[in-house]
Amino acid sequence: MSLLIGVPREVFPGERRVATVPEVVEKLIGQGFRVAVQSGAGDASAISDEAYRGGGAEVLADADQVWSSADIIFKVRAPAAEELPLIRPGCTLVSFIWPAQNPDLLQQLAAKNVSVLAMDCVPRISRAQKLDALSSMSNIAGYRAVIEAAHEFGRFFTGSITAAGKVPPAKVFVIGAGVAGLAAIGTAAGLGAIVRANDTRPEVADQVKSMGGEFVPVDYEEEGSGVGGYAKVMSESFQKAQREVFAKQARDVDIIITTALIPGKPAPKLITEEMVKSMKQGSVIVDMAAEQGGNCELTEPGRVVEKHGVRIIGYADLPSRLPKQASTLYATNLFRLMEDMIKTKSIEGDRVNIDMEDEVLRGTTVLKEGNITWPPPAPKLSAVSVVPATASRPAAALPKAQGHGERAGPMAGTATAIIFGIGALLFWIVGRYAPAAFLGHFTVFVLACFVGYMVVWNVKPALHTPLMSVTNAVSSIIAIGALVQIAPPLSTGVERPDEWIRWLALGGIVLATINMFGGFAVTQRMLAMFRK
Ligand code: NAI
Repeated sequence: MSLLIGVPREVFPGERRVATVPEVVEKLIGQGFRVAVQSGAGDASAISDEAYRGGGAEVLADADQVWSSADIIFKVRAPAAEELPLIRPGCTLVSFIWPAQNPDLLQQLAAKNVSVLAMDCVPRISRAQKLDALSSMSNIAGYRAVIEAAHEFGRFFTGSITAAGKVPPAKVFVIGAGVAGLAAIGTAAGLGAIVRANDTRPEVADQVKSMGGEFVPVDYEEEGSGVGGYAKVMSESFQKAQREVFAKQARDVDIIITTALIPGKPAPKLITEEMVKSMKQGSVIVDMAAEQGGNCELTEPGRVVEKHGVRIIGYADLPSRLPKQASTLYATNLFRLMEDMIKTKSIEGDRVNIDMEDEVLRGTTVLKEGNITWPPPAPKLSAVSVVPATASRPAAALPKAQGHGERAGPMAGTATAIIFGIGALLFWIVGRYAPAAFLGHFTVFVLACFVGYMVVWNVKPALHTPLMSVTNAVSSIIAIGALVQIAPPLSTGVERPDEWIRWLALGGIVLATINMFGGFAVTQRMLAMFRK
């Protein structure tokens, strides 16, 4: 008998999303699951019970039936107080949980002896992108933030010249160019606005540009990247310099969208009352971090308020305001999670036993069979190369002492000298006794290893995939060998090879050519994703 996935109707007031959609139900059934959906679960997302039945789901009349029969429960919001008694001991729950903010809920779930996969805890690493529900929701929220701003703003976004007069384009300033910020930049630029953006992580400047925005830097050098590709809390001097930049932008722009957040920390206050006062009448602020306290001092979570002639939007339910889109993407994230669980044998037949060796599942699991497994160990790899803490200093002071780096210098220098000395000695021994032809090949081999090592070492991990495709293309240089086989140069005096060798060489050239052009084409496409 196969596992039953249950999807109850969301009970949180105003929540319009649902944890699965009919198209995904079909795929889950294809994976070998059975699916039961509570009647009316998809109503707010415009998905009828009939549509779920069409996808192959069973529709159950009430929540109790779903919770009591399902082996795995799919939900959007963390279980509410009234849902806790319905949880069947031993089942697996997949939903947003926010364990840091809800320690009591974690204890209550532990008492139920259940396993819980928290979709807000999926590690943000490339392999987990397809099940990263936070990113898919933020993407929608960024889009919706611009739509909400456009709704409150009394003008066009795009500039135009009409018979009635000239309309200047709206100016939008986005703070925080993470997933939501980049989506907002793309949407606002698509509507024709002039878009600027700032982020403490300077490496996002290219991404801002690729989405149609202009990166506004802060004139103060400090590394902004922390663990796992997230930002870190910046020094007081940096924050002061940043506030000056924001104050200047506030006077100039019509719309500010703030998305600045470091996971697990209260939202930094970046837009002060003074800045709001300095904005033009009729301007709009969308504070996406409202739920975590807001990036603007005057935000009221969940509401739109007017302060000093500026409308400040503090909605915390932006993805739920595009319910069908959000439900579809979330349902796909959950489907991908199931795929991963099957692949890692965390689900076998009618048994769930989460593989805690798998980095993605380990990070996502906050409770395993009643044992709290949150927080997980820190991620091993950052998306960017991390610069030592000593990098935090004003730009003017940069050429001065390097702190730890300088103290490490003499030791590291001696070690390098010894390694080079040993290498040179070995090389001399090889050169002394090996045949001359061997030495030539050996030299090229050593140089190739060195160049290859240096190239890979100096490329950021985030760019390893395009690097692989370009090296793939470059490696097709073996085509030269095949060319030589087909027609050796006359001057070499080498005999023309057998017919079959020439055909083999021709095959080699064709394959190497596909590899070469394919590799360059793929690299080009990947880099275009960064540049656009
Ligand atoms: P993210 O982590 O991808 O992006 C946050 C960005 O803010 C990062 O690029 C980070 O470097 C930047 N940042 C952090 N501190 C900063 C500072 N002091 N100055 C400038 N930049 C700074 O997060 P994501 O997924 O884009 O979400 C952004 C925000 O939107 C979060 O607060 C999240 O909770 C919120 N959100 C709100 C929703 C709503 O309905 N209101 C829905 C979804 C997300």
